[in-house]
Amino acid sequence: MTSPDPDPSGQSEIAFLDGQGPELRQVHQQLNRFRLRYKFAIDEVTTKIAILREEFEETYDHSPIEHVRSRLKSHDSLFEKASRRGSHNSLDAIAESVLDIAGVRVVCPFVSDVYWIKEMLTRQSDVTVLEVEDYIADPKPNGYRSLHLTIEVPVFLSDRTEHVPVELQIRTIAMDFWASVEHAIYYKYDATVPHTLVEELTDAARIAADLDHRMTQLREEVRGLQVPRD
Ligand code: GTP
Ligand code: MG
Repeated sequence: MTSPDPDPSGQSEIAFLDGQGPELRQVHQQLNRFRLRYKFAIDEVTTKIAILREEFEETYDHSPIEHVRSRLKSHDSLFEKASRRGSHNSLDAIAESVLDIAGVRVVCPFVSDVYWIKEMLTRQSDVTVLEVEDYIADPKPNGYRSLHLTIEVPVFLSDRTEHVPVELQIRTIAMDFWASVEHAIYYKYDATVPHTLVEELTDAARIAADLDHRMTQLREEVRGLQVPRD
C-alpha cells in the first residue's frame, strides 16, 4: 500500500532546490503534478476554441480559424525564465511570476476573426482576463503583430479547483508566417542579426500588414457581388 501524498496540491517548496535534498522521485512527482494543471488548462481552452469554431462554421461561409497550436513550457525554459525573474525557489513563486507555462496560439484568416475569437472567449463567465497586449493595434518596433491575452481558467480536480493562467496568441496567417520566419532567423543568428536583415524583416512585416488589409478588402468586394442565379 502506498502512503497518502503529504502535499496533494504539489505547491510546497521544493526543498531539493534549497539543497536540503528530499528524494529525487518526490521532486519529480511534484513537478509533474505542477505541470499537469497547465496541461489541463490547455485542454480547457482548446476545447472552448474548438466549440466556437464548429459553431461558427455551421453558421457562416468561412472558418474563423486556420489552425490552433498549443505548448507546455519545458522544464528547462521554465526554470531559466523563473531564475531570470528571481523566483525559482518555490513552485508557488514560479506560478506567480511565469504566466506563459501554458500557451495556445490561434491562427486566423482575417484580422476581424482575431478580434472575434478574443470577444467570444473573454465574455465566457469562467474566463478571467489578466492581461491584453494588442500588438496589432500597436506593433512592436520590429514589426511584430499579434494579439496576446493572458487568461485564467478554472481546472476542476478531484479535491479542489485551480485557477490556471494560459497565454493566448491570436494572429492572422500573414502575421504567423512573418513571426515564424523572424523567429527562425533570430535562432540561426543567435540574436546578432545583421542590420540589413533586420530592416528587411521590418519591411516584410509592413507588407504582411498590407496583405491582411487587402485580403479583407477583397473579401468585402466578393461579399458585395451579386452572384447570378439560374
Ligand atoms: P515574457 O512573458 O517574458 O515573454 O514577456 P512579455 O510579456 O513582454 O512578452 P511578449 O508578450 O512580448 O512576448 C511573448 C511571446 O510572444 C514570445 O514568447 C513570442 O512567442 C512572441 N513574440 C513576442 N515578440 C515577438 C517577436 O518580435 N518576434 C516573434 N517571432 N515572436 C514574438
Ligand atoms: Mg506577454
